[in-house]
Amino acid sequence: MTNVVEEIKDRLAIEDLVGQYVQLKKIGRSFKGLCPFHTEKTPSFIVSPERGIAYCFGCNRGGDIFRFIQEMEGVDFSDALKLLAEKTGVKLEQHRFQQPKVSGDEREQLIQLYEKVTRFYESQLWSTEKGSKVLEYLRRRGLTDESIKAWRIGFSPDSYEETYQHLLKEGFTKKMLVSGGLAMTPETTVEKIYDRFRGRLMFPIFDTLGRVVAFGGRALAKEQEPKYLNSPETPVYHKSSILYGFYQSKPGLKHLEEVVIVEGYMDVIASFQEGVTNVVAPCGTALAARQIRLLKPFVKSLALCFDTDMAGQEAARRAYELAQEFEVGVKTVVLPEGKDPAEFALNHKGELAAVMKQAVPYADHFYKRLLETFGTADLSAKKAILNDFLPFFSQLKSAVEKDEYVRRLAHDLDLKEVQIYDEIKNFKLPVNHPARFHSAVGTGEDPVQSRKRSAEELLLGFLLEFPRVGKLFAPKIAEEFFSEALKPIYKAISQQYNDHGFESVQDIMEALPHELKENAALLSLYVAEKYGEVSEEVVEKELAALASHVQKKRMDGLRRDLHKQLTTAEKEGNKDLSHDLLKQLNETHAM
Ligand code: UTP
Ligand code: MN
Repeated sequence: MTNVVEEIKDRLAIEDLVGQYVQLKKIGRSFKGLCPFHTEKTPSFIVSPERGIAYCFGCNRGGDIFRFIQEMEGVDFSDALKLLAEKTGVKLEQHRFQQPKVSGDEREQLIQLYEKVTRFYESQLWSTEKGSKVLEYLRRRGLTDESIKAWRIGFSPDSYEETYQHLLKEGFTKKMLVSGGLAMTPETTVEKIYDRFRGRLMFPIFDTLGRVVAFGGRALAKEQEPKYLNSPETPVYHKSSILYGFYQSKPGLKHLEEVVIVEGYMDVIASFQEGVTNVVAPCGTALAARQIRLLKPFVKSLALCFDTDMAGQEAARRAYELAQEFEVGVKTVVLPEGKDPAEFALNHKGELAAVMKQAVPYADHFYKRLLETFGTADLSAKKAILNDFLPFFSQLKSAVEKDEYVRRLAHDLDLKEVQIYDEIKNFKLPVNHPARFHSAVGTGEDPVQSRKRSAEELLLGFLLEFPRVGKLFAPKIAEEFFSEALKPIYKAISQQYNDHGFESVQDIMEALPHELKENAALLSLYVAEKYGEVSEEVVEKELAALASHVQKKRMDGLRRDLHKQLTTAEKEGNKDLSHDLLKQLNETHAM
């Protein structure tokens, strides 16, 4: 395993990989570019060929080539490994048995299962009598055979057993069918199972690598409930981190710089058929923070094109609020007619692409709609407008934009600007407002979480980055200075110091055990970035200061600990222990 990882690293320079996503400029021994993980105007994403890492200290994201791909493509480690193995021509097959996670196997099998059942549903659609009626329906709804095939739409037979019987014959176990969400079981045993999807139009849901990992099954008869039956979450399917159409849209996103977000599967497919190739939809849930994060590296703005009903508009507003956290532009596409893009496309062939290009900034749209809804004539209308607008307004990030709206409000509502500023001052976002929820509780997804490094971390960074001075200094530093998480790195460094005559950060990096490399590389890069080219004297001074700071902190902690124990021992009247602890405490003062 480690060998494959190292082999891939040897074959693929990090700057070449990152360069495929980010425009890089060489600065000294590193490269810099705009961080793909958060919005910024001055490049702070650093790629360090010497250390084999690409990292942003602004938002703390990035790492080696594997981590970079994981974050960039929204895949886990084993998929990143596969992707990079393919890119570099390194063979994985012979190493598979060495994969650390048992679940790697289960995931692999689930993916095979979903591939098989997708083919089965496709064949039910294309080559059965019942299927031909369903095909009729799809064509009536305006889908071409080409689209139906490209999106691998299928049909699940109206039976409790046909699908699972077929899959058992293919060699899958009942247990797998249940854990994959294709079969259900009425009991706790998996002996009796039955098909989950019966008599439905099947939309395969693709992961970021284009593999089928779930289904949305649409009802075909009136009495079927619910309208869409979806796959449950499985080890390969997490609803909130997958977007329908993302795999198909990805090639176009970078250069279009915008992605259209629609509500339904049919909307995505109809849009593609109309030549709009940057369209995604959440899979039966509200748009989630993780989904925005997935899109963010590829685009400058999201264009919402939700259903025109109340629910759709409410969903758009929530999506807008969520997107504020990500510093990504939000626009809205206003459909001139029809309840959703699919319906519009059906009735206005060849017009959807132009409509989708006409996206307007969401805030403008929201403001206009408010004025239209309430009218501006009387006081109660004015109050209502302010009431709805202020929560929205309070989340605007740009002062210029805020001033602009105050001016417009004053003009449109015939109020003085000061009156509006007063209202704004008195306004508090309700405690249960979604925007508040996002920033306070955090989706855990705040894009920028810049963090200062601790003295401990800096100290390690110095020892790595300046081994010549570090070596002279090493006797004044002890393993006990470091927390459990950092100890292994310190131990590895000091061992390298003792055993070899290293002179450069590369030498040490080479010799570190694999699992410590990434973190060590980050610490040294952090120091290199923060201090740049400095003289050995400065390094010595910094090292001394850091070491004494860390030691003091560590001593304070130790003393606090001893004090606590001493108080308890005294309370309990344990004389021997008290005496002993007191002695220890005195010793710490002598240190
Ligand atoms: P819609 O009801 O708008 O369906 O739900 P649709 O996509 O326009 O489908 P058609 O055009 O009527 O055939 C939008 C999306 O919401 C999810 C599905 O992902 C659907 O595509 N949904 C809807 C569910 O997950 N379950 C439901 O019961 C309904
Ligand atoms: Mn719809």
